[in-house]
Amino acid sequence: MSQKSVLFVCLGNICRSPLAEAALRAEAVAQGLALTIDSAGTSGWHAGSPADPRAQAEALRRGADISGHRARQVVEDDFRKFGHIFALDHQNLKGLRDIAPRRVLARVGLLMDMVPGRAGAAVLDPYYGTEADFATAWDDVAEAARHIVARLSR
Ligand code: 4NP
Repeated sequence: MSQKSVLFVCLGNICRSPLAEAALRAEAVAQGLALTIDSAGTSGWHAGSPADPRAQAEALRRGADISGHRARQVVEDDFRKFGHIFALDHQNLKGLRDIAPRRVLARVGLLMDMVPGRAGAAVLDPYYGTEADFATAWDDVAEAARHIVARLSR
């Protein structure tokens, strides 16, 4: 397990966490930081599905192609494989803690805790929302991605 590995976890792994994955990939490349990055959902409802078309469109607007993404459910092994696991909201943080094996090396936390001034904030679920909610989700995860890269570059 490398500390330089990050897993993002939302509910369906079709909206927020694929955006977080894409934003962090772009930021890591821009800053020249080698990171292993993935995303998953606490639910398996959409396992095998591509990202929501609205998430794909938002990613493209921000310069990221996530058409190859396929949703998957988080598994126990993720807690051993990843140095950092970030939940996109409190429900999914609880979901992660409920299934975490007893001896966990990964640091599990809320994504927006990485952003000064936004600790305790959720990345709001845009699934039942509008295009603007997907844009807000991107803004949030991109801001968090900048702080993750800065932290892991030290
Ligand atoms: P995500 O969004 O957790 O950001 O991928 C959702 C996707 C699907 C559902 C809810 C949220 N759903 O209820 O199916």
